[in-house]
Amino acid sequence: MTAAAPWWRTAAVYQVLPRSFADGDGVGDLAGLRARLPYLAGLGVDAVWVTPWYPSPMVDNGYDVADYRDVDAALGGLAEAEAFVREAHGLGLRVLVDIVPNHTSDAHAWFRAALSGDAQARARYLFRPGRGADGALPPNDWESCFGGPSWTRTTDPDGRPEEWYLHSFAPEQPDLDWRNPEVRAEFTDVLRFWFDRGVDGFRVDVAHGLVKEQGLPDGLGRDRRTEEHPGWDQDEVHEVYREWRQVADSYDPPRVFVAEAWVARPERLPLYLRPDELHMAFEFEPLHVAWREGPWRRVVERGLATAALTGAPSAWALTNHDVVRQVTRYARTQWPERGSNESERARWGTEAPDLALGRVRARAAALLTTALPGLVYVYEGEELGLEEVEDIPAERRLDPIHTRSGGRDPGRDGSRVPLPWSGDRPPYGFSSGGSAEPWLPQPPGWGPHTVAAQERDPASTLALYRRALALRREVMAGPLAWSAAPDGVLAFTRGTTAVWVNFGPAAVALPAGLRVALRSGPAPEGSLPVDTAAWLVPDEEGSR
Ligand code: NOJ
Repeated sequence: MTAAAPWWRTAAVYQVLPRSFADGDGVGDLAGLRARLPYLAGLGVDAVWVTPWYPSPMVDNGYDVADYRDVDAALGGLAEAEAFVREAHGLGLRVLVDIVPNHTSDAHAWFRAALSGDAQARARYLFRPGRGADGALPPNDWESCFGGPSWTRTTDPDGRPEEWYLHSFAPEQPDLDWRNPEVRAEFTDVLRFWFDRGVDGFRVDVAHGLVKEQGLPDGLGRDRRTEEHPGWDQDEVHEVYREWRQVADSYDPPRVFVAEAWVARPERLPLYLRPDELHMAFEFEPLHVAWREGPWRRVVERGLATAALTGAPSAWALTNHDVVRQVTRYARTQWPERGSNESERARWGTEAPDLALGRVRARAAALLTTALPGLVYVYEGEELGLEEVEDIPAERRLDPIHTRSGGRDPGRDGSRVPLPWSGDRPPYGFSSGGSAEPWLPQPPGWGPHTVAAQERDPASTLALYRRALALRREVMAGPLAWSAAPDGVLAFTRGTTAVWVNFGPAAVALPAGLRVALRSGPAPEGSLPVDTAAWLVPDEEGSR
């Protein structure tokens, strides 16, 4: 990597859910985030990605946006966001925010106007007549990603049933019609609004979903979450990103996009990463891959192949706000190859997690992903080794996946619980006043996992992340080359640094002539225990 390479190609990015990060009266806010910026700078990340901060009825954790040019008053409003961007920059941190272009909130002015009969506003969404007698059946057979039909029927002012509108997610998230030029113009303007305020880039929500197949044909029973579907990944979507890239490139320094793009056919992902489109796309396989050597090797190989093909760096993440936290995933019997959100959450209550084991493995996984070429995304709380909170009472759960599944699927709230900062009982220093109850309940027993407790412990997961993120800049350079190693060990080099991860059934001897610069857990000299990872450097290096 030359000195001139742009910052984002090798960055470590910290994902913040502002309502769960810090401060506020039980709900986190941007003042809390500003106050903790030195914590993030000290962690050693290069950038902060803030999930949607826009005014929102909060049906889907802010992914239901009511106004794209403002910040929710509960988070502190626009001026607070501008102060946050300035202060982050002052500490050398870049700022990415979410853009949610597939759908608005039903509280957005456009959708309100559409419902009140404004034809121009209506044409920005996907309203269609129903099928069957009196149009009583949805226009097609598409399922919402949150369960149930993708269509909701509207009524006229007299309460008579009318047309249906499409929503790929909750009914409160109506999909926009990206074939409408007004929609395209609006979003390029929104991009400029934030770029002008210093935002360094966007994470693009549902990047594969904006354009639907002409005519909205039936999906014929295909599962829209896993199979090719007329609701996703249409060729015309690339016109949108070519236009966006021009906007990003018109700034100095150029701004950047990371795609959340789920494609049924992996060979379609590189299309989003063409040089005149998006800069990178998340690698999603690590979110569900089993804690096993073979599946992990395949995941890394596929990621590197995409990077080699496109020139875009891989964007690695072990977790995010949509999936079960890795400590809990690794704490149960491992799948042969991989699980899924549904299969992982279905295990709740059926197999007790061994969280101590999960933490040991999650630490090793951190040394694996932070050693890979490209970017690494760290989701808030993963640096503390937090587990999924599985026992949130049903009446406190907010995720529409929970509601729309009739309570069968617990949903994603368990990964979104407010962070523990200090103390030995809830709210663990989360609320500024000290006592306000967090918006999602924190579990008892997080005392040892607070930031304050881990700062006192040189063997803590927080200390490991700090060392890994700092050392990564020094010793992880150059392409990855696989190395020979005992069965069950994933081993590779980056330049003169060797990385060994022991997935096998027994401890192995480390290679001679190298010194351990960082290890995910305790070990006798020269040995790598089960579920442990190590970074090894030539004897004379890495003693810093
Ligand atoms: C992906 C986001 O990560 C998720 O949280 C959200 O529910 C959907 N997109 C819909 O916006």
